[in-house]
Amino acid sequence: MDRAVSNRVQALLEANTRTATVNGQALRFSVPSPKTYPFQWFWDSCFHSIVWTHFDVERAKEELRALVSSQDRDGFIPHIIYWDKSRVSRSVFLGPWQESKGWWSFLPFTPKPRHSALMQPPVIAQAVERVWEKSRDREFLADMLPRLNRYYAWLKDFRDPDRDRLISIVCPYESGIDSSPAYDDVIGFKPRHSPASLWLRTRRIEAQNKFLFSNHKKLVVRSGRFHVEDVLVNSIYALNLDVLARLNRTAGEGVAAGEFEDESRLVTEALETKCWNKGRHAFFNLDTRAERRNDVLTVISLMPIILPWLNWLKVRALVEEHLLNTNEFWLRYPVPSVAANEPTYSPAGQTDAVPVHLLWRGPTWVNTNWFLYRGLRQHGYDEAADHIKTQTEHLVEQSGFREFYNPETGQGMGAEDFGWSTLVVDL
Ligand code: GLC
Repeated sequence: MDRAVSNRVQALLEANTRTATVNGQALRFSVPSPKTYPFQWFWDSCFHSIVWTHFDVERAKEELRALVSSQDRDGFIPHIIYWDKSRVSRSVFLGPWQESKGWWSFLPFTPKPRHSALMQPPVIAQAVERVWEKSRDREFLADMLPRLNRYYAWLKDFRDPDRDRLISIVCPYESGIDSSPAYDDVIGFKPRHSPASLWLRTRRIEAQNKFLFSNHKKLVVRSGRFHVEDVLVNSIYALNLDVLARLNRTAGEGVAAGEFEDESRLVTEALETKCWNKGRHAFFNLDTRAERRNDVLTVISLMPIILPWLNWLKVRALVEEHLLNTNEFWLRYPVPSVAANEPTYSPAGQTDAVPVHLLWRGPTWVNTNWFLYRGLRQHGYDEAADHIKTQTEHLVEQSGFREFYNPETGQGMGAEDFGWSTLVVDL
């Protein structure tokens, strides 16, 4: 990556930096996009931290410290922290309030929640490992490790009610892949419905979780209407359990290391047996408590290639039959969030047509490219990995750091000055 781009990356994260004070301690983090996403988001911050390790490892640590400062005693870490209350009050009541605990928090003059009650893909162990590799800071590791151990234990204890090792999400926003057609069936969205109805249906899930269960962590999982064992979330979970095992080993915690490593392999085994469609040679989410496997081919289906120990036949099928397939994912600017031959594929997203963002229905995103790039490299697909790197660099050079890009034309769309698109320097 040339110097000019890397300077722009650093300048962007710098410009997106915000501060907050907790118990007298000053915290710094970067918002995903000042105009569109003015709070701290979980997986965004993990990506920002990874990018910061290229420039200033202290900033990388700060980003993660701010994130874990909102960890609950039971281990949970929220997907959004509403540091800047003035921005929250300007949002419609349908927004952040629904993602938080408390029945009445949307009413004026009631105490406002500090954070959401949702999770996001658990990529924090990878971020901590990066910081550790760059800094070898034992104090940082000693501070973060017990928090990480509690967080991943929380995921297992609270999010795997049927004990099949796959963790569940209770709302599409928890996967970070918000409006993917992979969730259409579960939320009852049909092609004949208007795009606005998609947004409303997702919001309805949130409203039910809030007004029926007050976003109570166990009740929502037990009784909420949206219940999905998501392949992207579980791939990231399995990979990060393994990273966590390594971190524990580094800290001399052999027993914990062994347990997390075993868990990582069991999650992979469950993915391979329950989510793999033998006929279509790809992974698909398990929808609802009945574990109905869906069949919409999206970037979610490819994510298990991030696991180094995934069965090689499955890796080969995912890469050679799907990822490198020019009718599906191998478009001019790969990797689109939905396979191009799916009826729901929409390369321009739908943000121009309606005043709300409908995300992940076709465009290419830099964070999923980052994951797939790493997966391809580790399985020896260097040429394909290089191509993703080059095309992602082109996207950023031509269109700037946008939230997502048209996979056919390269046009940038969605939020501007978008934080995780800076991951391009980490390819
Ligand atoms: C969108 C994305 C989500 C991300 C958030 C902040 O909602 O779908 O994954 O964390 O924006 O960037």
